[in-house]
Amino acid sequence: MDLMAIRSVLRLGDPRLRQAALPVDDLGDPRLAPLIVDLQHTMDAHKGAGLAAPQIGVPLRVVLFGGNGPNPRYPDAPAIPRTVLINPVLTPLGYERDGGWEGCLSVPGLRGRVARWRRLHYTGVDADGQPIDRTVEGFHARVVQHECDHLDGVLFPDRLSDPAAFGFIPELEAAGLIPAVPG
Ligand code: NI
Repeated sequence: MDLMAIRSVLRLGDPRLRQAALPVDDLGDPRLAPLIVDLQHTMDAHKGAGLAAPQIGVPLRVVLFGGNGPNPRYPDAPAIPRTVLINPVLTPLGYERDGGWEGCLSVPGLRGRVARWRRLHYTGVDADGQPIDRTVEGFHARVVQHECDHLDGVLFPDRLSDPAAFGFIPELEAAGLIPAVPG
């Protein structure tokens, strides 16, 4: 039987979310594989678009995002391949930024509008130590920027384009600011 380890997700206000995470020095560290399994199970249990290790209380530079098919919370966005990204390095391409609504498992029930770099180059290594080197744009670029912010103790409410473009999901839906998401 698979030992599902759904970890609790730290919420805004927990000081551990504000720490800078440490690089993974040793890809052979035996704690790494169970961490990645826990990230997968926890993200899937919450139907998240992504999850960073600090959100489950592990201060390492490891993020997980994407999955098979569109995320139910973002039905119009193109699918992002499931990616474990260790020691990520992000480089914006160009100067264009896009505004978009974001949520976060550490900020449950809320959404806010955040400007992110439209195009992005990112590198890192995957769970097998293989290099990842991608140029992406749009929602994929947004998700990577959001998740990697967690590694520096930054959460999306820190980056609101407008303090008024932030609130609880039912109220934002009722105001017509965000589309109603099925389920
Ligand atoms: Ni988040």
